[in-house]
Amino acid sequence: MSIETRAQQKNNLRKIFIKTYGCQMNVYDSQRMSDSLSAEGYMMAENIEEADIILLNTCHIREKAAEKLYSDLGRLRIMRKERGQIPLTIGVTGCIAQAEGEEIIRRAPVVDLIIGPQNYHHLPHILKEVEKGIKIVKTDYVMEDKFANLPLPKKETIRRRGVSAFLTVQEGCDKFCTFCVVPYTRGVEVSRSVEQIVLEAENLIDAGVSEITLLGQNVNGWHGKDVNAHEWRLSDLLFRLAEIKGLKRLRYTTSHPRNMNDTLIAAHRDLPMLMPYLHLPIQTGSDRILKAMNRQHTAVDYRHLIERIRKAQPDIALSGDFIVGFPGETDADFEETLKLVHDVFYASAYSFKYSPRPGTPGADMANQIDEQKKEERLQRLQILLGKQQKQFLQSKVGKVIDILIEKPGRHKGQMIGRSPWLMPVALKTTAPVGTMLNVIIEEAKRNSLIGRFQE
Ligand code: SAH
Ligand code: SF4
Ligand code: F3S
Repeated sequence: MSIETRAQQKNNLRKIFIKTYGCQMNVYDSQRMSDSLSAEGYMMAENIEEADIILLNTCHIREKAAEKLYSDLGRLRIMRKERGQIPLTIGVTGCIAQAEGEEIIRRAPVVDLIIGPQNYHHLPHILKEVEKGIKIVKTDYVMEDKFANLPLPKKETIRRRGVSAFLTVQEGCDKFCTFCVVPYTRGVEVSRSVEQIVLEAENLIDAGVSEITLLGQNVNGWHGKDVNAHEWRLSDLLFRLAEIKGLKRLRYTTSHPRNMNDTLIAAHRDLPMLMPYLHLPIQTGSDRILKAMNRQHTAVDYRHLIERIRKAQPDIALSGDFIVGFPGETDADFEETLKLVHDVFYASAYSFKYSPRPGTPGADMANQIDEQKKEERLQRLQILLGKQQKQFLQSKVGKVIDILIEKPGRHKGQMIGRSPWLMPVALKTTAPVGTMLNVIIEEAKRNSLIGRFQE
């Protein structure tokens, strides 16, 4: 009997379902958790109904995100009741697990285990304890590297996930923007080692992955050492990964303006495999608000940075994040944001109403802005960003571009590929997933493009 079958027997083919909320780093973490549980013989459930163990991998970034957890837990309480004697284990992982810890069990006693993002390598052991009927809360900040202690995914799992993969290279944040919970939920900035990242990238590419997106809360703050103990920056890592045979495209996200150094900007000019797309949030165009947010740079600093990036790679698609209605934001401050957006020109962007988060300095600031004002500002900003996105997509019509085929489309004979600037391109083709194609763009939709194969 193989080791795998024995492990499966031991776990009685227990089926796990992981529901992921929040950012790409959570998507990646959920994959690593499921890889580690598969290695222990657990099966992955196709849907939540057939699961014996349900893990909710949560996000704490805004109040709405946090509320979702408790409404989902309410539904799971009913589901468990309906199951009667059949056991159902319920766990909460991710950023709410870290921020609220055992408070979650007090509010929702249906929860059996709580695991913070630094402790995922303990998951198999914790599940065994929980199955004995013990409730476990594990949210300590551990010094050991959780990723080094998690097994890499199998080839068939990587293939199932597609030709484009995430790879977390950096975690945590030391910047303490006054609105943000991330430094409290993900801990201090830590960079994974070159060796581990290369190994993991090789494993992905070997299984057929063509595009890798390096992830980190401050990914451009990544640093490490090469075999000769020379200090490396993110640009060095990108050049090293580009040497791996079979890799076609590289991306990275999310970057902080303060970590956007010259060598990384130069990589956008000198490394063709690095896609011309950059997510570089500024949050607001007002210096007064930038200061109150503790972003530690001015709007002019950001504008200069963008100029340098565009000089290195004129084709770059810029993306950003914005918060409207931060405490004390006046109409004049908001106008500064609109002006900055107008001048910079974003290919795509995310914008949010400020959400006061418990434990962050912003939540205790005077001059909180009322909801209606936030809503009005958000709408005005989104109209402008929407126009820019439309204009960006329209500017690609008639151009011949490279796309990477990712998956079948909704219509018969249609496939969906990804453009260099991240937005999807739909076209009719028989080319299989993983192919790079030259496509002529015929039409721009709201968030995507329509293309035709160009031989
Ligand atoms: N590290 C990244 C952002 C991570 S959080 C950076 O520094 O840019 C993702 C986005 O969520 C942020 O860029 C911000 O726009 C938004 N966000 C974070 N906290 C928020 C809050 N309290 N209210 C509203 N939006 C918030
Ligand atoms: Fe949050 Fe600021 Fe850190 Fe980004 S840089 S994760 S917004 S504290
Ligand atoms: Fe949310 Fe945590 Fe990501 S708070 S945005 S899941 S780092």
